[in-house]
Parts: sequence; C-alpha cells; structure tokens
Amino acid sequence: MIAVPASDMTRLEAFLAHIASGGKVEATDWMPEEYRAALLRFIEMHANSELMGVLPEREWIMRAPSLQRKLALTAKVQDEVGHAQLLYRLAEDLGKSRAQMMDDLLAGRTKFHNVFHYPTHSWGDVGVIAWLVDAAAILSQKALLGTSYSPYARTMQRICWEESFHIKHGYDIVVTLAGGASFDTRVPLLMVALSLFYVGGMFLNDGFDREVDARERPERPLPSGRATPREVFAIGFGLLAAGLVLLATMAWLGPGPHAVRRLVTLVSILSGLASLAPVPTDAGILFARDTTVPPSVQEFAWRMIEKRCSYQSYERGQRSFWAYEARTRRVAADIVYSINILSEVTWKKTEPPAIINMIVVDDGRMRLAAIRSSFIPCASPPEFAVP
Ligand SMILES: [Fe+2]
Ligand SMILES: [Fe+2]
Repeated sequence: MIAVPASDMTRLEAFLAHIASGGKVEATDWMPEEYRAALLRFIEMHANSELMGVLPEREWIMRAPSLQRKLALTAKVQDEVGHAQLLYRLAEDLGKSRAQMMDDLLAGRTKFHNVFHYPTHSWGDVGVIAWLVDAAAILSQKALLGTSYSPYARTMQRICWEESFHIKHGYDIVVTLAGGASFDTRVPLLMVALSLFYVGGMFLNDGFDREVDARERPERPLPSGRATPREVFAIGFGLLAAGLVLLATMAWLGPGPHAVRRLVTLVSILSGLASLAPVPTDAGILFARDTTVPPSVQEFAWRMIEKRCSYQSYERGQRSFWAYEARTRRVAADIVYSINILSEVTWKKTEPPAIINMIVVDDGRMRLAAIRSSFIPCASPPEFAVP
C-alpha cells in the first residue's frame, strides 16, 4: 500500500488506474514517492551489477588467446560499462547523484547481483560467463522490457539486444574449447605418430629388460628365443624414427609462416624427452643434463630474462624456456657462454615461439655481454661487446 498525503489521493488513484490499464510513466510525469524510491533502488542495483560484472572479465583482455578474442572481449566489456552508464543516468533522473551512487557502492551500502562478480580463474570462465551468466541475465532482463517506467523499458531494449550478442561470443569460446573446431587432417597423422612412439617404446622396453624378463617372465618373445635383441632394437628404434619423421613432416608442412620454428620446437622437445632429462635449479630455463653451463650461470641467465625481457610476470610464468643450444668457450682468461633459448606458451598455438640468444662472460665476475630475441624486446647491456 502506497502512503501519500490526502491531497495527493486523487493523483495516486489516477496513477494506479493508469498503470493498471498498461499505461507508461515518463521521467517528467508525476509519480508517487514510493514508486520513485523503489524504481531508483532497483535501477541502481542493476547499474551496480553491470559495473561489477566488468571487473572479473576485464582481467582477461590482456590475456585473451587471440586478436579476435581480445577484440570481442574488449567490445563486451565496453558494452557492459555502457549498460552501467545508461542505467546510472536513469537513476540520476530519479534524483540521486552519480557521485553518491559510487560512494554507496564502494562503501557497500548498495547492492549488486554477486553472480556477476565471480572470480575468473581461466579463459574458460570468461566463455562460460558470457554464455551462461549473460543468458540467465537476459531472461530476467527481458521481463523489464514491460516495465511501466518508459525510460527504463527503452534502455532495456538496447541492453537486451547487446546481451544476446554476448551469448554468441561466450558460446563460441566454449564450443572452441570443447574441440568444436573444424576437422583437422593432421589429427589422424598425429595419432599414427603417437602410436608409432608407443609401440616402438614397447619393443625397446622388452629389449632393455631382456635380462629381467629371462628371470621373471621366460615365456616372453626375447627370453624364449622367438625374437633376437637385434631385431627388437631395430624395430623399436625404427618405429621411433618413423614417428619422429612423421611429426617433423607435419610440423614442416603445417599452416602458417613459422614452420621452421615449429620444427625447432619439436626437435628440442623430442630430444629433451629422449635424452636430456631436465636438471632442477632455481633457474626458470631448462638446460640439458650434460650441459657445460654451471648452475650459477643458468641462474644468472634466468635473472637476465626476468630483468631485461619485457614479459609481464604472469606471462613469464606461462612460458617454457628451453636452452636448446648452450656452448662454453675459453677466450684468454675469460669463460664465454653462448646460450640459445627457445620460449613458447605451450597452450597458445597462435603465438610463434620466441628465440632468445645471450652471451654471458665470466671474467671473475659474471656479466651479460649480449642479449637478442625474436618477438619480444630484451634490453641489451650498455656495452654491447661480443667477445
Ligand atoms: Fe550487461
Ligand atoms: Fe552482458
């Protein structure tokens, strides 16, 4: 029941009859105080929700996996801020200043829908929010199209239209993450290559374990004499080589201008898996086990990447760094280390791997003589003297 002074009773009755018959109210029309206050509270909460919803999504603009995704997410964030803007203007018309609304939001005196403000831990969350949360939002927001307050209804027309596009953006991210991309002919080739590795590994396993098997499982082909070690090793290594050739061919022929770098990546990874077990140090760079570069130099090289290459720290954490080639030379009394590093984000195939070359000189104290890199800038030391 709306409480009004007796003098306004007639106006109130007319107002209620107008609303009941489906009539609309404009900002300049007379309205009962409780109607105005309820409208203001609701619209302010709606505006706050749009604004708060932007914050977790905004975090991912910098980390979007491709240019297209970045553009789409940036546009969505702009839309949401725009929704907040439109709604705050409506609230201002109802008598509350923008500054007061911001103060109240920051002080926790006004509310927002917390469903729009869940943390986004991964890119997948961004897709799910845009698809499902915005889909839920549009269902409740569509109900507002029929509100008696006309300025709100007009604003909701635009908001609903934009929200329905956000759903498409989210759906597309989720479907892509779920593997809904078009069929790639390299997938069966990859499956064949991995099967060759697996079966080759089984042969080699039997070859290397033949003495244990002779004791424990004499019925197996090698101990029982149905196959010779020579045959088993020939087939095992042959299958591994065939898998490697197949993968290398796929990498070489793959789309994009970076086929050569992909091959370098591939060979580094495979040689790493085959023979070069990583040595744990404090350094973020993976060196071969038999490297001639001592741990202190490895750690120094890592500090140089941290200090001089313009990666954001989260980005550096996402990347892998492999010293695919590291040489140690003696030049007069100095020791010179030439280290070539391949860096990539393993999950982000759209980004080509970067190569960082550095020369570290130990002449009693360690110093960086040169650093060069592809794709990301790494600041050179002031004296760029390559020994
Ligand atoms: Fe929105
Ligand atoms: Fe939205």
